[in-house]
Amino acid sequence: MKNKVLKELILQKGSFVSGQRLSINLKVSRTAVWKYINILREEGYKIDSVSNKGYRLVEGPDPIMVDEIKDMLKTEFVGHKIIFMQEVNSTNDYAKQIALNEGEGTIVIAEKQTGGKGRMGRRWVSPPGTGIWMTLVLKPELHPSKVYQITQAIAVAVAEAIWETCRLKAGIKWPNDIIVNGKKICGILTEMSAEPDLVYYIVVGIGINVNTGSEDIPDEIRDKASSLKVELGRDVSRKELLVHVAEHIEEVYKRFVSGGFGAIVYDCNRLSVVLDREVEVIGINCTYRGKALKIREDGVLLVETDHGIEEILSGDVSVRGVEGYV
Ligand code: BTN
Repeated sequence: MKNKVLKELILQKGSFVSGQRLSINLKVSRTAVWKYINILREEGYKIDSVSNKGYRLVEGPDPIMVDEIKDMLKTEFVGHKIIFMQEVNSTNDYAKQIALNEGEGTIVIAEKQTGGKGRMGRRWVSPPGTGIWMTLVLKPELHPSKVYQITQAIAVAVAEAIWETCRLKAGIKWPNDIIVNGKKICGILTEMSAEPDLVYYIVVGIGINVNTGSEDIPDEIRDKASSLKVELGRDVSRKELLVHVAEHIEEVYKRFVSGGFGAIVYDCNRLSVVLDREVEVIGINCTYRGKALKIREDGVLLVETDHGIEEILSGDVSVRGVEGYV
C-alpha cells in the first residue's frame, strides 16, 4: 500500500493531491493514507502537506522517474519505451510476455521484484528502491548459437556505465558478472525465444546492486556480493546510472551488430577479471580447472588445463581471489 501511495504522488508530477482523493483511489481511510505518507517521509521522501490542498511529493531519495529519465536519455532506440512498475515478479518474465509486440530497445524496469531470477535457477534478491532491476528487449539478426555473445556485449556496456557514473573500476567475470573490488555487484541473465536458426527476440535482464545496504545482502553471499554504495561509501544516483547504462548499451550493441563480436572482443578482454587467473569452470557436463588465457574473437573463453587448451562456451566461472573463492 505504501508503494501505491507513492505511485499516486509520482503520478501528480509535483502537484497536490488531496487526502480524500488518495483514500478514494486506494480504497483506504484517510488516516491510513496519512500513516503511509509518514512512512514514506521516514524513508527519505520529502512530502509537503498543506490544508485544503493535500499532499505533494517534493523529492524522493532517488526514485526512478521515467519522464525525467527520458529527458536525460540521448539514445536512438534504447529506452525510448520504458515500462515501469513498482512491483513485478521478474522483469525478465514480464518482458518475455510482451517482447513479440514491442520494438527493439524497450526497457522493463521495476522498483521491486518478488521473484527475481538469476542464472542456473538461482534467485536474485531485489529489494525495493535500492537497485536497478531491468530487462531490455533486443531483436538482432543473429544466429541463436551466437546469442551468448550479446551477454558479453551488455557486460561491457554496464562496466563502462559504472565507470562513467561513479568512477569505480568495474570488471567482467566472464561471461556475465560485473565485479567491483573482488565482489559481484551486477548479474546479467539473457533469455531468448527462437527457432533453430531464427531469433524472435532476446531479453537481457540486468540486476545492479546500487544503493543496497550491506544488511540487505543475504548472509550466505555477503563475502561474494556487494553494491556500488558499499564499495563507494556513498549513494549513487540510480537515474544517472540507468541513463549511462542505456547509452553505453546502445553504443556497444551498435558496434556488435555492425562488426560482430570481433568489434567488442578487445573491450571484453580489457575489462576481464578472469584472464591470467586460476579458474574453475563448472559446465553442463564437466568441470575444468586451469588458467584463463583469453576471450577469443567469437567470445569463447580459452582455459589452459593439464589436458590442453579447453574452449569454454558457457558455464559458471570461479576465479581464485574473486568473490571469496580461495
Ligand atoms: C545472475 O547473476 O545470475 C543474473 C542475475 C540477473 C538479475 C536480473 S534483475 C532484472 C532481471 N529480472 C530477473 O528476474 N533477473 C534479471
